[in-house]
Amino acid sequence: MSIGGTELHAPGPRHIAIIMDGNGRWAARKGLSPSAGHKAGVERIRDLLSACKARGVKALTLFAFSSENWQRPPKEVELLMSLFNSYLRKEARRMREEGVRLRVIGRRDRFSPRLQRAIAEAEDITREGAEGDLIIAADYGGRWDIAQAARRLAQEVADGTRSPESITEDVLGKYVRLQDLPPVDLLIRSSGEQRISNFILWQAAYSEFYFTDTLWPDFDEAELDKAIAEYELRDRRFGGRAEGDDAIAQA
Ligand code: IPE
Ligand code: IPE
Ligand code: MG
Repeated sequence: MSIGGTELHAPGPRHIAIIMDGNGRWAARKGLSPSAGHKAGVERIRDLLSACKARGVKALTLFAFSSENWQRPPKEVELLMSLFNSYLRKEARRMREEGVRLRVIGRRDRFSPRLQRAIAEAEDITREGAEGDLIIAADYGGRWDIAQAARRLAQEVADGTRSPESITEDVLGKYVRLQDLPPVDLLIRSSGEQRISNFILWQAAYSEFYFTDTLWPDFDEAELDKAIAEYELRDRRFGGRAEGDDAIAQA
């Protein structure tokens, strides 16, 4: 279906974003600590990345740690940071072999110098990857993202290199993260919660949302296929009229 020649629903999503939620409940159901849930959750990522690649998905953005997750108990935060660090150190080489380019979005200044180095190294090792993008949102918040874009634009106005009138949606859209990737077609949240929890706010304006009760450590290839199948049934109108709505259009 198309409006002005633009394909409205692609055969499959090019960019999927996932709020990986439910590690704590997964662990609690097994009588384990949240740490065990987070470990199991990280284990899912490798398979999911390959599954996405095999299905022609060009970019996968994962919400790993929100700017609000610092409020968790210090021990849990520490464990999450150490899992992030070891994930980057272990997986970067494999990603390079598979042609995956890794990028981390979010604030970095609140991470330890060691973790900041691990992030920079992993990004560096995978820089040439041309087969697909893996984006990890860590210490990320959608409001932060929009605020940092506004701050950079304000700086340009203060420097005299930009006029306030030049700040349009298109321009602001180039200052938020993920701007160089295809738009997020499909946004998945596991664990039954139906909220965005300050994930990509600007970028999700026209994403299709998919919620599943499955807890993140149980989210496998079959779950991904269910989400994609549902996505393919969606009618993406972007505010326009779908084909077959001609009667209404002419009314
Ligand atoms: C998601 O799992 C992981 C992070 C937020 C880091 P949770 O730890 O939020 O799992 P639940 O929501 O308690 O089950
Ligand atoms: C959102 O999950 C953040 C991540 C999955 C990284 P939360 O578990 O932190 O979200 P709330 O607290 O249920 O909204
Ligand atoms: Mg949660």
